[in-house]
Amino acid sequence: MNNNKRNYFEVNDIHAYYGESYIVQGVSLNLKENEIMALLGRNGAGKTSTLKTIARADNPTLTSGEIYLNGESIHDKKGFEASRLGIQLVPEDRRIIPGMTVEENLELAQVAEPIGWSIERIYEHFPRLAERRKQEGITLSGGEQQMLAVARALARDIKLLLLDEPYEGLAPVIVHEIERILLQIKEQGITTIIVEQNAVAALKLADRAVILDTGEVAFSGTAQEVLDDEELRLKYLAI
Ligand SMILES: Nc1ncnc2c1ncn2[C@@H]1O[C@H](COP(=O)(O)OP(=O)(O)O)[C@@H](O)[C@H]1O
Ligand SMILES: [Mg+2]
Repeated sequence: MNNNKRNYFEVNDIHAYYGESYIVQGVSLNLKENEIMALLGRNGAGKTSTLKTIARADNPTLTSGEIYLNGESIHDKKGFEASRLGIQLVPEDRRIIPGMTVEENLELAQVAEPIGWSIERIYEHFPRLAERRKQEGITLSGGEQQMLAVARALARDIKLLLLDEPYEGLAPVIVHEIERILLQIKEQGITTIIVEQNAVAALKLADRAVILDTGEVAFSGTAQEVLDDEELRLKYLAI
């Protein structure tokens, strides 16, 4: 089975740039195994840039700071190496491959080494995808496409799941279904960082919360602390 017993994750004072633009300005994060972290903040606060930096995308460029997954350094790795080590980013646009069925999208993800969850195991957790396995991926509803994007991340070896606005544009009933899946994934030992504009939904799911403000950490604590602190919510989340 998956080697995901100890998926702890640590980010120490990372700084990253798009060209000359200084965007991620000294972010630190800490996640224990199985924890879900809500990464929140206003539009333009640097949430997506932080996820991309963690996933070791070429852009933005990480100029200093350290990233460790289970004690192994990630800051000195390329994106494909970070993915191989189990860091999987589900980007906001989901990137379902046109012309391929649900199952082919999953099989394609498994071409990458090492392989994560089996297709059977994925279908156990995503019955809707099982029902639609022969359907072209891009013809699925928005919620089902989001499920496929998450499922594809699981089909690769996964230790840390990075979700960028997974609930965007989805009806509440579908959001609930995805929440249920994310809790199941947590039970399977995976650590998750969720970026969401729907802060309340993310906080209900999360153990920990970090709020970014212009590329810096404005708050770091438990999700419950944010839910309980009206001043903090109004100031940074407008909720
Ligand atoms: N590719 C890019 N090139 C230059 N600046 C960017 C790029 N992407 C985002 N930015 C800038 O970085 C800042 C943080 O953006 P982003 O990380 O997307 O914020 P969030 O996800 O919190 O809304 C914003 O000021 C945005 O304009
Ligand atoms: Mg964003």
